[in-house]
Amino acid sequence: MLTDLRSLNLKNRKVLVRCDFNVPLENGAIADASRIDASLQTIRYILEQGGAAILCSHLGRPKERDVKYSLKPVASYLSDKLGMKVALAPDCIGDITGRLVSALAAGHALLLENLRFHPEEETNDADFAHELARGKEVYVNDAFGSAHRAHASTVGVTRYLTERAPGFLMMREIEALSALTTNPEHPYIAILGGAKVSDKIGVIRNLMTRVDVFLIGGAMAYTFLRAMGEATGKSRVEEDKIGLAVELLQAARARNVSFELPSDHVVAAEPSADAAVEVVTRIPEDKMGLDIGPQTIQRFISHIALAKTAVWNGPLGLFEIPAFAHGTMAIGQALAGSAAKSVLGGGDTAAAVAGQPWASRFWHISTGGGASLEFLEGIELPGIKALEK
Ligand code: 3PG
Repeated sequence: MLTDLRSLNLKNRKVLVRCDFNVPLENGAIADASRIDASLQTIRYILEQGGAAILCSHLGRPKERDVKYSLKPVASYLSDKLGMKVALAPDCIGDITGRLVSALAAGHALLLENLRFHPEEETNDADFAHELARGKEVYVNDAFGSAHRAHASTVGVTRYLTERAPGFLMMREIEALSALTTNPEHPYIAILGGAKVSDKIGVIRNLMTRVDVFLIGGAMAYTFLRAMGEATGKSRVEEDKIGLAVELLQAARARNVSFELPSDHVVAAEPSADAAVEVVTRIPEDKMGLDIGPQTIQRFISHIALAKTAVWNGPLGLFEIPAFAHGTMAIGQALAGSAAKSVLGGGDTAAAVAGQPWASRFWHISTGGGASLEFLEGIELPGIKALEK
């Protein structure tokens, strides 16, 4: 059972809020702030209730203090969005930070410096978790994107802060993703792309028992096509996963689940913006598949039109290069405009559609990449479990 954040008394209390501010940075500036925006509702609520919000997050994967991974740009962004100064503490633990926390007034927010400047965060070290909890009275976890990590700030800290609740973002994610795992309406389709079959094995296995149709694109499609004996030219194929691909194709057939692969392809000699591009149904020896072709797009769209539930994870082509983005955009637009309850997995997929005028029409866009995949695999996420009473 999870506690409703609205049932907690936050007035004049120090609230440790774990957020996922792991946002992409370009030349030190935030390239996509959607993850920060998604947590604003929770932060504002805590401040409005008279709580003092002590925000913490990781950024990137530093193994020690590294100024490149400072949360400074996030502190400026939050100051703008909240219309108040959000100071950045020099560290997430320690005496100076402790003093800033105790001086923090009700209705104000402080951001702690990157949790991963301490390796003890990822090892879920008990002393570090205890130190992180020091001076705080309530714990709110809104970091769905990190819920698959059993770290000190997502799990360890809950030993010391017994008054705890998920934030509103965390709750929205749990509710939306649960709609896919508990009694989804049929037809239910899964659109999977991205580079590697190996990244999606767990989710394909789990969805095999739930979905009616898989629509497969991205580089991972070529491993499946090779497994079926088709020509893949120079396309990216995971040679060591061909056996597994055969096994997954057989499992789909045995369960009567339709496993739809691309039947035409946008190919080029290399994955570059200047390469000459053509559409083929058989990939020549000297070319590689870089996007799904128009026939495949139409076939996939006809499945989308019938779907009542849909999950999409992974781009269908090399969308970073406009010549190979068409499949991802066409499928994204069709899905966003469909009547299906559509859930878009975070990470690359969310980045691919960010800024498109139709992106807001998805039923739910998850802020979690790995976390949403693990949720759909049926794995109990440690960051959610730790919040239970
Ligand atoms: C993510 O971006 O998926 C989360 O912030 C988790 O980051 P991590 O994979 O570095 O733990």
